[in-house]
Amino acid sequence: MSSTETSTMKAVNYQGAFKVKVEDVPKPSIEHPDDVIVKVTTAAICGSDLHMYEGRTGAQAGITFGHENMGIVEELGSGVSLLKKGDRVVMPFNVADGRCRNCEEGKTAFCTGVNPGFAGGAYGYVAMGPYRGGQAQYIRIPFADFNALKLPPGTENEKDFILLADIFPTGWHGVSLSGFKPGETVGVWGAGPVGLMAAYSAVLRGASAVYVVDRVPERLQAAEKIGCIAIDFSKGDAVDQILEKNGGMLDRAVDAVGYQAVVTGGDKEQPNIVLENMIKATRPCGGLGIPGLYVPTDPGAPDEASGKGLISLSFGKLFEKGLSLATGQCNVKQYNRYLRDLIISGKAKPSFVVSHEIGIDDAEVAYEKFDKRIEGYTKVLIHPNGPL
Ligand SMILES: NC(=O)c1ccc[n+]([C@@H]2O[C@H](COP(=O)([O-])OP(=O)(O)OC[C@H]3O[C@@H](n4cnc5c(N)ncnc54)[C@H](O)[C@@H]3O)[C@@H](O)[C@H]2O)c1
Ligand SMILES: [Zn+2]
Repeated sequence: MSSTETSTMKAVNYQGAFKVKVEDVPKPSIEHPDDVIVKVTTAAICGSDLHMYEGRTGAQAGITFGHENMGIVEELGSGVSLLKKGDRVVMPFNVADGRCRNCEEGKTAFCTGVNPGFAGGAYGYVAMGPYRGGQAQYIRIPFADFNALKLPPGTENEKDFILLADIFPTGWHGVSLSGFKPGETVGVWGAGPVGLMAAYSAVLRGASAVYVVDRVPERLQAAEKIGCIAIDFSKGDAVDQILEKNGGMLDRAVDAVGYQAVVTGGDKEQPNIVLENMIKATRPCGGLGIPGLYVPTDPGAPDEASGKGLISLSFGKLFEKGLSLATGQCNVKQYNRYLRDLIISGKAKPSFVVSHEIGIDDAEVAYEKFDKRIEGYTKVLIHPNGPL
């Protein structure tokens, strides 16, 4: 390789609303003794990337996307002691220092040491710190001994392991946030990658019935294939359908949609619609888990209040029913080791959500199609250094 080839690499860079471009950027280097450089074998596109892609955030042009990353350790800082060159690793989307109070308590999504003025850091994400994303050929991993999870060598289960960076733990977390116990009934709103992983987690954890609400046929079919009951909200009110099929209210509800939720019978956004559905559909003393994203400001919001992050809720009903509610980003590190071992032992196979595998040059088209949720685009994996 010539020196120019080694000093630059390809990366998927945001250009402005509805536009990403594969550009040549400087290859990352070790900046701190605790860093490693990983050669990316797989990076996934996430529903969360679409909030930026659609121009719904303050993301600046030039940011490299990609917070779901795995690959091979290529270069080590002098302070790294657990990882070795050649290790296959997957990184939580959270960047965490492993030493602040929140990290000490396992709340790595709220690390106070990696992103000044903000609790939480991530790769390739607006407001989440200066960490370049992994939809690129290489990525720098800070606090690498803490942030990289070792995987078995080789290429086996790559499609499952990449999901440990975010959506499998996030789905699992959503179910945990709801207060779920085995034997209970669960409703999951949204059958995107996060919703499908929440539904799959509820199935693995022994739910007596799992209802999955969406309107995209392929996504509802995927939910049915893992043993869930599909609820198509374009065909009528989701709550009415659930109450009828379940013969009453649910024990737990999970919001895997977030603030870009749309109403029945159209494309009009109503940011509180899923939360309102969940309050209605859940039994007194049940619980709501909300991994779906809500933002403090939204330039594309349908009304002034929600543009300021003010989401109105039937709080009186929530109080009357004594519902518990929990939300926030997923502390991936709380779960990823255990979910990895479920994959290794063959007890979990989350890769059923993966719909497309592409080279980095096809990322521009993939973003467009995934954003429109057409042609079955559910979970896209990019192999930036070529097929495995
Ligand atoms: N908490 C975390 O750590 C975390 C991590 C990853 C993603 N997220 C968030 O989770 C959410 C889901 O992510 P995703 O990648 O699956 O997104 P996605 O956009 O692919 O899926 C959302 C799904 O919700 C459906 N939907 C829209 N309105 C609905 C309604 N009223 N009722 C039911 N379904 C409806 C859409 O048809 C779509 O299939 C996003 O808000 C994302 O930002 C949170
Ligand atoms: Zn993600």
